[in-house]
Amino acid sequence: NNAGSDDTGEKEVLTMATSADYPPFETYNAEGEIVGFDIDIANLIAEELGYELKIEDMSFDGLVGALQAGRADIVMAGMNSSEDRKQNVDFSVDYHHSMFTFLSSPDAPVESLEDLEGHTVGVQLGTVQEEGAKLLAEEYGFEVKSVDDNGILIQELNTGRIVAGYMDKTVADGYLAEGDLVAFDDTSTSTPGTAVAFPKGSELVDDVNQVLEELIDSGKIAELEEKWEINQ
Ligand code: ARG
Repeated sequence: NNAGSDDTGEKEVLTMATSADYPPFETYNAEGEIVGFDIDIANLIAEELGYELKIEDMSFDGLVGALQAGRADIVMAGMNSSEDRKQNVDFSVDYHHSMFTFLSSPDAPVESLEDLEGHTVGVQLGTVQEEGAKLLAEEYGFEVKSVDDNGILIQELNTGRIVAGYMDKTVADGYLAEGDLVAFDDTSTSTPGTAVAFPKGSELVDDVNQVLEELIDSGKIAELEEKWEINQ
């Protein structure tokens, strides 16, 4: 397979867009590099298909638009393959699955959806949690505050401007392990899996699926989950 090479023998670039504010999927390390579970998988995909991987960091809310505008070949951003998004992008097979969680401060612990009444819940703009929170808000009587960056969501939580942050359990677990936050898993919502997104009709979908199936079957994904301390 030489899909990724051109006439000069130099590797073609595979541009991956992400939102590097979502550890352990993608985040900046102390050296200022973007690292994470998604980045390791993207590197394996690029390597296997013979591409040079280039990573573009942007707001999560801009990722689908970047694919549609042809500014990226793939998106990996802890992104759920939701039915709504399938109107605008194609998805690979799922390579991960996570529930959704409400992360809160121990000063005002959230232990159930009922505890949210009259409070403000933070979500990241453009996420499935934003959409989900808006539905739950009507039923349970809370406000939803959308912020652009998931790191800001954690700050808002730590400073008490929101009572809880609604995000993927995989991400909440990481913050829980670090310190004093507490969490309540939302078992009321069934969640689609995490997948690679492509512009509609992309020829890369089949090739990437093949690599992902191999990585899943060989246990490589499980190994990476362990490396990034992702509980299954
Ligand atoms: N899983 C959620 C979604 O697909 C949130 C993903 C947020 N990702 C990020 N890199 N900030 O909407």
